[in-house]
Amino acid sequence: SQSSTAVIVGSLRKESFSLKIAKALTTLAPSSLQLDVITLNGLSFYNQDLEATPPADWVSFRDRVRKTDAVLFVTPEYNRSVPGVLKNAIDVGSRPYGQSVFNGKPGGVISNSPGAIGGFGANHHLRQSLVFLNVPVLQQPEAYIGGIGDAFDEKGDLVKASLREFLAAYVNAFDTWVARYRK
Ligand code: FNR
Repeated sequence: SQSSTAVIVGSLRKESFSLKIAKALTTLAPSSLQLDVITLNGLSFYNQDLEATPPADWVSFRDRVRKTDAVLFVTPEYNRSVPGVLKNAIDVGSRPYGQSVFNGKPGGVISNSPGAIGGFGANHHLRQSLVFLNVPVLQQPEAYIGGIGDAFDEKGDLVKASLREFLAAYVNAFDTWVARYRK
């Protein structure tokens, strides 16, 4: 049977490496795993004052994630932590209190960077929030993707064979992880 995963991208940039990784994952995923790539462009800032009549962009983001069985985050690192747009999306999805769209969904974290450390800091800061949100996160394989700068060609196709292999293995492990939590 098929399960669906929200793939939440932590960068708004048109040529984002994170977005390119998310798109590559859709071509590498086994047929049992359907991936819905969600970019955060247009998602407004969380503000508790608006919760009584939430903005339409919050409602559609929440609905889209709620429909899925799992959440997979693909994110860069900003100043050794989670980019603000991604933290905001987590905050929006986590409320109103008691109605978090993340609660109990299995998850995964893929961080990346043109640098060598592969977004380790962002990856683990994100995991801190996911503990509170009751998202059991895939532990192995970990995904800190360094040297992302030469992974894609001008068309956005993944040309780095070692990364394609790694992402295929990752998304297969993730599929197995998600299946464990199917009701
Ligand atoms: C960065 N970048 C970065 N890289 C890194 O490895 N560790 C870091 O702490 C930071 N910090 C950081 C802060 C800010 C504000 C920006 C704009 C950038 C570089 C970052 O990895 C690079 O710009 C990526 O290309 C961003 O990801 P996307 O947009 O390609 O997905």
